[in-house]
Amino acid sequence: MRFNSVGFALTVGMALVVVLMGFTLLSAAGLVGFSAADVEAARIEAGKPQPQDTTMALVDAGLPRPALSEAEAAAVAAGSALYASNCAQCHAVNEVVVGPALAGITKRRPVSWLIPWIKNSSKVVASGDEYAVAIYNKYNKQQMPSFGLSDSEVKAILAWLTSQENQGKAMASQL
Ligand code: HEC
Repeated sequence: MRFNSVGFALTVGMALVVVLMGFTLLSAAGLVGFSAADVEAARIEAGKPQPQDTTMALVDAGLPRPALSEAEAAAVAAGSALYASNCAQCHAVNEVVVGPALAGITKRRPVSWLIPWIKNSSKVVASGDEYAVAIYNKYNKQQMPSFGLSDSEVKAILAWLTSQENQGKAMASQL
């Protein structure tokens, strides 16, 4: 069979058009191409300076991090132990036990409220803080014990709680 160069060129041309149209459609649907999130992730990878207080950065971000730094992982591990020995008898992440479920707590309340509350909730209730009084009444005026925890220990507990929420999200996205 004689090589038909015109036919060949036409075939290649058609194939290119099909590929280009496919790519355009897919990128319009957001299936291929670069998103703002990819660019941001690449910028972080490239060694953008990270915030100093890594524990609070983790708490504030409220988003799954690609991986925890050593300091963050240590804070989360410390928080897990502190939570198990001080809080777990009354709280769970996702269900009400004696006290409320603590999932999403850093979105409900600012850290500047959570630190004094966790150290000594009765004092916050006594100050007349509206949210504190409401939740205290809702839970039948059952007092939370006060805890001799430092700010960074409370932040570690919050970091651990946040890491639990994010694990739940990461798992849900794999279903
Ligand atoms: C003896 C049971 C008990 C223990 C132990 C306890 N809590 Fe509580 N917690 C409660 C109750 C009950 C409430 C509801 C408010 C109230 O009644 O004072 C509450 C409320 C809270 C809230 C507010 C929740 C919301 O939805 O606004 C946070 C945050 C919290 N606790 C964190 C902790 C942490 C962190 C620890 C451990 C360091 C802890 N609690 C230990 C019983 C407890």
